[in-house]
Amino acid sequence: MCGIVAYIGHREAYPIVLKGLKRLEYRGYDSAGVALISDKIDVFKKQGKVARLEESLLGTHLPSTIGIGHTRWATHGEPSDRNAHPHLSASGRISMIHNGIIENYASLKQELLNKGYQFNSDTDTEVLLNFIDDILSNNKCSLEEAVRIALKRVVGAYVIVMLDAENPDTLIAARKGSPLVIGIGENEHFLASDASPIIEYTKEVVYINDYELAIIKGNELVLKNLGNETITPFVHQLDMELAAIEKGGYEHFMLKEIHEQPTTIFDCLRGRLDMVNGEIIMAGVQEHIEALKNAKRIIVVACGTSWHAGLVAEYIIEELCRIPVEVEYASEFRYRNPIIEKGDVLFAISQSGETADTLVAIEKAKQQGAIIFGILNVVGSSIARISHAGAYTHAGPEIGVASTKAFTAQLVVLTMIALKIAKAKKTISDDRFLHLMQELNAVPDKVESILSNTENIQAIAQKHALASSFLYLGRGYNFPVALEGALKLKEISYIHAEGYPAAEMKHGPIALVDENLPVLFVATKDAYHEKVISNMQEINARKGKLIAVVTEGDQSIDSLTGDLIFVPEADELIAPIINVVPLQLLSYYIGTARGLDVDRPRNLAKSVTVE
Ligand code: AGP
Ligand code: GLU
Repeated sequence: MCGIVAYIGHREAYPIVLKGLKRLEYRGYDSAGVALISDKIDVFKKQGKVARLEESLLGTHLPSTIGIGHTRWATHGEPSDRNAHPHLSASGRISMIHNGIIENYASLKQELLNKGYQFNSDTDTEVLLNFIDDILSNNKCSLEEAVRIALKRVVGAYVIVMLDAENPDTLIAARKGSPLVIGIGENEHFLASDASPIIEYTKEVVYINDYELAIIKGNELVLKNLGNETITPFVHQLDMELAAIEKGGYEHFMLKEIHEQPTTIFDCLRGRLDMVNGEIIMAGVQEHIEALKNAKRIIVVACGTSWHAGLVAEYIIEELCRIPVEVEYASEFRYRNPIIEKGDVLFAISQSGETADTLVAIEKAKQQGAIIFGILNVVGSSIARISHAGAYTHAGPEIGVASTKAFTAQLVVLTMIALKIAKAKKTISDDRFLHLMQELNAVPDKVESILSNTENIQAIAQKHALASSFLYLGRGYNFPVALEGALKLKEISYIHAEGYPAAEMKHGPIALVDENLPVLFVATKDAYHEKVISNMQEINARKGKLIAVVTEGDQSIDSLTGDLIFVPEADELIAPIINVVPLQLLSYYIGTARGLDVDRPRNLAKSVTVE
């Protein structure tokens, strides 16, 4: 949620901050702003995308070498110029950008109102800012000290970065629960919500931890905890190339990321699938193999698309490892006092590794003794850092708000983990193990064959682009694929779409079917195939507009009328990785046919760091 960027060094800050905001815009994009220090703090902000802010500042001379910038995903107060960040404190001394939510903002605000403070916005951010301002004026202490005092009273999640008009060579930042990375350059520092704005300047970064304060004065970075003790910064080397975060000739990041999948899946398998020795090499799994194989239960916590990957994993792990799996929405799990017992292993699945619901859920499970195993894409993310072990998906930076390549990589990793546990538990035959390894190895080529011929999908998208509602159906391993297809369509095209188990349709949703409703079946050959064909006949009989993802060469569908999307044959356990690809493309083409900004769908943000 929201992108934060700041610069302090010897170059002009504004162009660096602006470029950083553009890179971070996928995180939030309802308003944008910058604050720069000259003899005082100047704040510029605008509702809408970063380009509007840029336009409004064209031709303005902004020579400052210290600046902060923010692209917002509103939580408190509508998207508007006045609610946009940075905010300026009542005294005019401090300016702040903030990512997250100050949960006790109402009581803090009341205290400040009683003291006569007035507010220029509806945000929780301005409350925290003036709370710090008030401490500063009452205690005659440094800003650093005031921040420390204030944060001890704050409930919620935040990254804050501040400029101080009285110390124009200093930036102060703090974090709890939201991400903050500091890039270390030659006599310059770059602060950002993730590494994407930093990568073109330096590969040396420091990840700030919860309850830490970063004070950058001139060229010097000092890290402290809330108890004022100095912490030695740990410098990581970024393993990321600039090209990975640029569009590379594609019209949208989403399309680029869909097309990257043969490579990202290959990267995810590389070094892990040892076809020569018939082994799967995953150090994180191997290290905890006893706990995994003896797990009484695996609890999966995740949100959105990652939750769908968890559902596929439930089918796979139960089938191959004979371990009961519960798949939980992280947001629900946390609040219902979950029962966690000795021997439970918790899988946290997250692309960003920053999702607040997932982060808090696993913190809770960790306190209760569960082993936390992270399936994550972003190296060094908050969830990665609090997990006991895990496996990265290696899909590279995913910028499009709709998750595509991260999902298929999650499925690949989860399948490999299941295979590894099953082998250790001896719940899989050698033949089946080798067969599934071969099937995994063949996925990149199969996905490539779908991507090399998308005309049919584009034509189907054109045909249904004006629909007002869609039904997505599938059974077994294809049921979560149907859910994911429906989520993708909702996000990208704003068309209402519902995913359902195909057989459950007759218990209610079939009432929706008429000659206007597109009904999409994920109906590749599997154990339920004949039954799914009967479900499709039921739709044909009611004149619903049938669209079906089916296996190449399948003749049992010849009697059906509708739009067919053919995919290469695959083992039913592996098929979700392949079958989801045409659904991603369909959403993309419907979204673009409707003229929508598919990379930045309304109301969404890439990394949901608020609960
Ligand atoms: C996917 O297209 C979504 N934008 C969203 O549902 C996402 O999967 C969810 O917010 C979880 O994110 P995470 O994987 O980064 O934890
Ligand atoms: N809660 C703050 C606001 O509404 C920050 C939101 C964000 O993270 O963008 O302005």
